[in-house]
Amino acid sequence: MLHRILYFSPAGTTARIAGWIDRDLRERGRRSELINLATCDSAGLQAFDWSNCCLWLGSPVYCDHAIPLVEHQLSQLPVVVQGFSVPFVTWGGVTSGLALPELATRLKKQGFKPLAAAKFLAEHSSTWKVSEPFYRGYPGRRERSLVQQLVNRVCERLDCESNGELNLEKLNYLPKRMREASAGKTLALVKSAMPPLVADSNRCTACGFCVQHCPVQCITLDPYPVIGSTCIRCMQCVRHCPEEAFSFSAETVYERIMVMAEESDEKKESQIYI
Ligand SMILES: Cc1cc2nc3c(=O)[nH]c(=O)nc-3n(C[C@H](O)[C@H](O)[C@H](O)COP(=O)(O)O)c2cc1C
Repeated sequence: MLHRILYFSPAGTTARIAGWIDRDLRERGRRSELINLATCDSAGLQAFDWSNCCLWLGSPVYCDHAIPLVEHQLSQLPVVVQGFSVPFVTWGGVTSGLALPELATRLKKQGFKPLAAAKFLAEHSSTWKVSEPFYRGYPGRRERSLVQQLVNRVCERLDCESNGELNLEKLNYLPKRMREASAGKTLALVKSAMPPLVADSNRCTACGFCVQHCPVQCITLDPYPVIGSTCIRCMQCVRHCPEEAFSFSAETVYERIMVMAEESDEKKESQIYI
């Protein structure tokens, strides 16, 4: 069986977890392949042989859900007869929302039976600019050890004749009040309430760093950056701009994140489900 690890990771923490999974699988003598969804389109994914495969799918949580691009790529995969899967998400200590149950349900629908699932705490990628980013240092040693446990348990399950399946009820870990709030929240809605991302033409040198760092390739230079409608507000353009040409109110964003984290009843810890 081939383990294929698909991930999307604007700020790099999901990529780190995916790399650990890959390493642990290889150390156990399993065949494993890492695929970055930022550089592989639907046609590329459809060209793979998906039979006899365990699909690990990793997404950051954005506004209580997996990133829409990840959900879209997943819906483009062929429906398989007997596949397996392990969805995993990284979240910045606010809430993991519905990302994990939604990914698991979708994977199951496509024929990739979920064997396990996991949510990993990670530095909140909107807080890099403040002196103490939210959940700085995550994923850390506990997450590293959880990945090892997860890989061990998944391998054990696959080696077992009956395989077993994750009971998706286990992913209904949020209280009803929070599940309902998450269901009504989307990245599109949050984005529509945000001020537009604009580069100050007095500072911008049209160097193109923002274009290079955009994981959804939504920036064009004309001659200054124009942000397209598929922007996911990952802020990598802002973060990597050498001229600090984009206005970004780091303290305000940080304070909003702190308030949302306090209002959330979700236990702020990483967790594996099997
Ligand atoms: C636009 C945006 C929305 C986010 N929404 C959430 C959220 O709803 N809950 C949460 O806990 N973290 C949220 N985060 C933080 C990310 O989930 C977290 O930092 C994740 O580890 C980023 O993954 P990456 O490093 O692979 O890009 C958000 C970050 C961004 C940029």
